[in-house]
Amino acid sequence: MPGWVASRPKGHLANCHARCTPGESEGPPVRCGGGGVLPPWSRASWRDEGRLVSEIAVRTDGLSKRFGAQEVLRALDLEVPRGEVLGYLGPNGSGKTTTIRLLLGLLRPSAGRAEIFGFDSQRQAVEAHRRLAYVPGEASLWPSLTGAETLHLLGRVQGSLDRAYRDLLVERFQLDPSKKVRAYSKGNRQKLALIAAFMARPDLLVLDEPTNGLDPLMEQAFRACVAEARSEGQTVFLSSHILSEVEALCDRVGILRDGELVEIGTLTEMRHLSALSVEATFDSAPPDLSRIPGVTVVEVDDHRVRCQVHGTVEPLLKVLAVSGVHELLSREPSLEELFLAHYGATGAPATAAAAESGHDH
Ligand SMILES: Nc1ncnc2c1ncn2[C@@H]1O[C@H](COP(=O)(O)OP(=O)(O)O)[C@@H](O)[C@H]1O
Ligand SMILES: [Mg+2]
Repeated sequence: MPGWVASRPKGHLANCHARCTPGESEGPPVRCGGGGVLPPWSRASWRDEGRLVSEIAVRTDGLSKRFGAQEVLRALDLEVPRGEVLGYLGPNGSGKTTTIRLLLGLLRPSAGRAEIFGFDSQRQAVEAHRRLAYVPGEASLWPSLTGAETLHLLGRVQGSLDRAYRDLLVERFQLDPSKKVRAYSKGNRQKLALIAAFMARPDLLVLDEPTNGLDPLMEQAFRACVAEARSEGQTVFLSSHILSEVEALCDRVGILRDGELVEIGTLTEMRHLSALSVEATFDSAPPDLSRIPGVTVVEVDDHRVRCQVHGTVEPLLKVLAVSGVHELLSREPSLEELFLAHYGATGAPATAAAAESGHDH
């Protein structure tokens, strides 16, 4: 079975699991002191096994990527401490996958650098990869292997495997491991890639929109896995555009717009810093609220006004107090609203003014 690994096309396995570093796959597998069969590229770093070098799981410093004239990622500075679940949000084309490929050392940065547990993603990719597992949005796996054979193979490649957890995951994701990969639906292939990553119990899980193609029940299974990883002290870098997923799972959220990290923090911090939504219903025609400092009127509908308040709510309350309000609702923005404030409702970048207001507070 390991011969399979050594003879695979370059880069192929890297697309389904990050422990496989393209370009370092030649030569026979070696048997090591740990008892398992290791892929050849593990030799150099075996002595590092089990030792975490840094408490910072992911660190980037001015990380940038340019494709021709297009700057896809701009000077990303990011620190993800060990044990954190970070949501990395952005619409299609904002640079999430590019960031991840840079973190994995699969792309060379145009400027800056990235580290995984203190190991340089480019120069120390082997050491970095020993501590992480990666699930891409669409896993490419071997069509002629069964699910069980795929898990067996990936378990060997990873060098670590929690068998009891693997069996629990197969059951939880309701995967029939006896079928060949070519017979699996996209969702089933995705489940297989997720099981392979979680069963390794790696220090860092790098997940690139991993729930693409999963039905709602399986989304729940995925959430349980992330929660368990978190309780085990594993770090999770989760790129997503599913806001409810991020809201439910993540300790902190970063929002990427056109290759630039425009916001990062806990949801509580972000809500604090962002607009408060206020809805007021008046006895008669509503007053003009748009002139009040910090207030942006979103909608006027007969006697009802919906607005957003940046900063202190006091000036608005003063006006409302003398305006015959008979109903007043206020709430913190949802992640969806925070997100839309950066992008506009269409997913396209918001206007300069809206983007500015997102930065200001
Ligand atoms: N290999 C590449 N060559 C040229 N442009 C690329 C390449 N990979 C990604 N891009 C471009 O970089 C931008 C960001 O892409 P990506 O990181 O895949 O975004 P996301 O994962 O957020 O959808 C897109 O405009 C995409 O077309
Ligand atoms: Mg992507």
